[in-house]
Amino acid sequence: MQIYREKDYDALSRRAASIIAGEIIHNPACVLGLATGSSPEGAYRYLVDWYKKGFVSFKDVRSVNLDEYVGLAPDHDQSYRYFMQSNLFDHVDILPEHTRVPDGLTRDPGAFCAEYDAYIRSLGYVDMQLLGIGRNGHIGFNEPDDHFVKETHVVDLAESTIDANSRFFATRDDVPKQAISMGIGAIMGAKKVLLVASGEEKADAVYHSVCGSITPKCPGSILQLHKNVVLVADEAALSKLTAAGVEV
Ligand code: F6R
Repeated sequence: MQIYREKDYDALSRRAASIIAGEIIHNPACVLGLATGSSPEGAYRYLVDWYKKGFVSFKDVRSVNLDEYVGLAPDHDQSYRYFMQSNLFDHVDILPEHTRVPDGLTRDPGAFCAEYDAYIRSLGYVDMQLLGIGRNGHIGFNEPDDHFVKETHVVDLAESTIDANSRFFATRDDVPKQAISMGIGAIMGAKKVLLVASGEEKADAVYHSVCGSITPKCPGSILQLHKNVVLVADEAALSKLTAAGVEV
């Protein structure tokens, strides 16, 4: 795993955006696996800026998002489709039909999840998968469990995830209790993984993902088995690793 240690959130966002832009410039028709949340938000701001300056174009890029809350419509301001539109898609030249975010309103989740995986396979899997990480080590919404789930699936969100994400909702009760998440199979099938982590509250998850036991109790730990992972993190998120003497 290659680790970039950046001094703060802005620096890690710029680094992550430059890695994504490099992928697009190298392979204009690449397939990006995209994440939502606070971790990638700054990188998306840089990408929008660089698009406006003419440095990068998304016109042949395809994207598949990691996850979506069950029960939220695409125009709900906390849905992940809404996040992607307002943070990236509405501001760059990506074609709407080239973007996919799981459908939180699907009436047939089983069929939907199978189709989502079939679509990712039909693209030849993802070229670069952008990931944040939960405080509990989740990637996508693959929550700590006693086994890894390979396929796209409906997941019951962990209480700690509901707590963490309640910051975006009026009350904790408003946070959806389930999500549709890409499984570990599609994430590990990506040719490259770009993991972004910021802040001290991610330090444990980062430590266990980089050098803990490989276990579904910390889903991020599976990334140790991937051949091409780049971690971009600030000093706070790397603090447990550095305290343990791991060279970063
Ligand atoms: C979001 C996702 C989640 C987040 C994680 C961290 O699409 O898949 O795994 O990356 O919950 O969220 P933030 O970045 O908000 O701390």
